Amino acid sequence: MAKTNELSKYIVAISLFIIAGSCATRKSEPITGAVVDRSDTRVANGQEKYNRYCQKCHPAGEAGLGPAVNGKPNFLKKFQAKHGLGVMPAFKDIISKQDIKDIGLYLKKLDKLKKRKDI
Ligand code: HEC
Repeated sequence: MAKTNELSKYIVAISLFIIAGSCATRKSEPITGAVVDRSDTRVANGQEKYNRYCQKCHPAGEAGLGPAVNGKPNFLKKFQAKHGLGVMPAFKDIISKQDIKDIGLYLKKLDKLKKRKDI
C-alpha cells in the first residue's frame, strides 16, 4: 500500500508538471530560423553582447521578462541600454559605449531580418 501511495504521488506531480507546462502563454512571435550575417565583426560583437546582457529578458528581441525591443527606434534601444528604466538595469558602467553601439547595430539587422517574409 505504501508503495502505491508513493507511486501515485509521483503520477500526480508529473501530471501537474505537464499541465503547467502546456498552459504557458505565447508572449511573442515565434523565433524563426533566420540568422543575422555575422561577417560584419561589429554585428557579430553586438550579437554576442546582446546574448550576454539582454537575451535573458528580451529573447531574440522579443518580449520575455521585458517588452519586445524589435521594431523600436534605435536611439531608444541604446538609451535604454545605457540608463535602464523601471526594473531594467542600467548598463552604462557594464557595457562599453562601442559595445552598446554594436548591440544597436545588431538589433537593426535583426529588425530587417524579421521584416522579410521569405524566411
Ligand atoms: C533583467 C531583465 C532585463 C535585461 C537584462 C534587459 N532588459 Fe530591457 N527591459 C526590461 C524591462 C522589465 C523593461 C521594461 C521597463 C519598464 O518600462 O519599466 C525593458 C525595456 C527595454 C526597452 C524599451 C522597450 C519599450 O517598449 O519601451 C528597450 C529598448 C530595452 N529594454 C533594451 C534592452 C537592451 C538593449 C538590453 C541589453 C543591454 C536589455 N534591455 C537588458 C528588462 C531587461
